[in-house]
Amino acid sequence: MNKNIEIIQPDDWHVHFREGDMLEMVTNFSSRINKRCVAMPNTEIPITDTNKASSYKELLERASNNNFIPLIPCYLNENLDLEDFRTGIQNKVFFGSKLYPSNATTNSSHGVSDISKIFKFLEILEEEKSPLLIHGEKVADNIDIFDREKYFIDDELSFIRKKFPLLKITLEHVSTSYGVNYVKENENIAGTITPHHMLLTKKDVFLDDAINPHHFCMPVVKNETDLIALRNAACYNNSKFFLGTDSAPHPIQEKKPDLSSKPGIFSSPCSIELYAEIFDEENAIDNLEIFCSINGPKHYNYPINDTKIKLEKKEWFMSEFSSYKDIQVKNFYANKKINWKVAY
Ligand code: NCD
Ligand code: ZN
Repeated sequence: MNKNIEIIQPDDWHVHFREGDMLEMVTNFSSRINKRCVAMPNTEIPITDTNKASSYKELLERASNNNFIPLIPCYLNENLDLEDFRTGIQNKVFFGSKLYPSNATTNSSHGVSDISKIFKFLEILEEEKSPLLIHGEKVADNIDIFDREKYFIDDELSFIRKKFPLLKITLEHVSTSYGVNYVKENENIAGTITPHHMLLTKKDVFLDDAINPHHFCMPVVKNETDLIALRNAACYNNSKFFLGTDSAPHPIQEKKPDLSSKPGIFSSPCSIELYAEIFDEENAIDNLEIFCSINGPKHYNYPINDTKIKLEKKEWFMSEFSSYKDIQVKNFYANKKINWKVAY
């Protein structure tokens, strides 16, 4: 049955645009749909000061459609210049700040290894009502890769929230039912949910004697019970969860069938369509707009967009690769059928 829906134009509150040719290739996939995107600051040289943030913003504006608004968090690190950080937050050069625990994911080696060393920055965020975006995984030799989110919540996030009760927090790419419950039960915290965490389980990544690198991301996808909890959180009675694709392209040669592969799933060529498909499967298509276009701006105190997009229910197949110059990236959902399509 053909069916069309119209929703307020979405925003993607978590996406990786990279730099150089990759940036030129991927930015339009997001700006074709979204009015605003949070452009994550884990570039090769991370965005740690206002100069870098301003020039990165310009690059993104140049590579995208008209009227597209990139929002750039500051990459937190204990050595940031405090006054530059304060100015960047006060003047909204930075869209809040992003906490990467060191070595938790791609380009996080400059991240934070001791939370107490960044308290002076969190104080400023709390004072200025500016958000802290968190990659919520605790990395340690004795912590299983599937338990990193839970340990982060119990050991680090609870501590941060106790010390800075008014700080507005986003737990990015929530991946477990434990994380869903934590966000639901606590104040001043919301969560983004990716399409892939609602479509894949660890069986899609960890094969008998290899991994599927195109399904490998951080946090890794988990169990069926987690997938169901995430779908429920996104689709029903939802005011605390919103769209953040974590679309994270890597050149094909960086993808290897073992854990040395770069983590990250490139979904922006079909992410809005996959969200529509998931909501439709859950009989919750009427709630798609709340998740994609309303909960995010409400959490961040931004205006809700005044433009709309249309989605049609019609079958199409995702192409296998996105290519530009000498870059090739494998698309998420490559060669698979998708039942919704943005109508231009
Ligand atoms: C992201 C990347 O490649 O930059 N990778 C990922 O697996 N999600 C970083 C991140 O958000 O963790
Ligand atoms: Zn990410």
